[in-house]
Amino acid sequence: MTELRDVRAGQSLCAYDLRRATEAAARAAYAWIGRGDKSQGDAAAIAAMEAELTALGFDGQVLIGEGPRSETSQLYHGQRFGDPGRIPLWDIAADPVEGTSFLAKGMTNAMACIAVAPAGSLFDPGPAFYMEKFVAPPAAKGRIDPAAAVEAKMAMLAQCLGKPVEDLTVYVLEKPRHRDLVERIHATGARVALYPAGDVAGALMAAIPGSGIDALMGTGGCPEGMLSACAIKVLGGEFSARIDPQLATERRAVETAGMDLDRWWSVDDLVRSDDVTFCATGITTGLLFEGIERTATHERTQTLMVGGGAGERQLLTSWHRRGP
Ligand code: FBP
Repeated sequence: MTELRDVRAGQSLCAYDLRRATEAAARAAYAWIGRGDKSQGDAAAIAAMEAELTALGFDGQVLIGEGPRSETSQLYHGQRFGDPGRIPLWDIAADPVEGTSFLAKGMTNAMACIAVAPAGSLFDPGPAFYMEKFVAPPAAKGRIDPAAAVEAKMAMLAQCLGKPVEDLTVYVLEKPRHRDLVERIHATGARVALYPAGDVAGALMAAIPGSGIDALMGTGGCPEGMLSACAIKVLGGEFSARIDPQLATERRAVETAGMDLDRWWSVDDLVRSDDVTFCATGITTGLLFEGIERTATHERTQTLMVGGGAGERQLLTSWHRRGP
């Protein structure tokens, strides 16, 4: 069983411990479901996750978080948990609310996510905010060129999964930038599942056989991409990504940083260790797990745990006694 172990302090931390960070974030966000306000629910979840990581005594540093220190005071890039005088043991990728608009609108699929991997093993997207992603089940891993035309990828995916193209369903974010992509997938005869947000959920489903989703295509956030890559590294699916700036300022920053916009990064380039743990807790009920359910005395959470001693994946339902 792989455990997140702080050998220096003699502590150990596994997915079963780490899920406390996403459960705390999800429970804090609960009060803001369907109230039309993205930022307060996000702020509550960020504060709760930060407090829980501190309480766990976690020895890590935020690589993917809420932004640079100049823009945020919590879960900022480079924030150190544990003893700041030592080299951190773990890289942290955190998104206390993935799907802030789902949360504000009371829609399905809002979740709290975190991933950790040994320090220095996660790709740092630097100034890049968007990446194009290609995700597919384990049967397609390493067998499809992510740079190929959509039509060729669909034909190859059908072959890898042993079903006709007409039976394939591709998860795509419903964005103007994807109009051409959606038309081309439709032209192959495949189905498109269009969601307004939430490509971590889409990526996880694409990597889990039998989820009803056979692939994810299109461009979404880098933080969400790195969180998905961590989970998919353990799940054994195909995950490839290419930096794909969407904003003029982002493009300038990415070009100044000398990032190669044509390079497709494999999951092994993005996550350079097998010792990875990913946890996601439902805030609102989604396609993978249920959201928070509150009674007079308890709150029920559902958390997907991947790696970190959880085997390939586990779904944990917990009942938390509510405070006074
Ligand atoms: P938020 O949690 O910030 O609302 O992000 C949700 C999300 O849909 C991600 O899943 C996705 O990667 C990204 O936003 C896409 O960004 P944009 O909406 O700017 O295209």
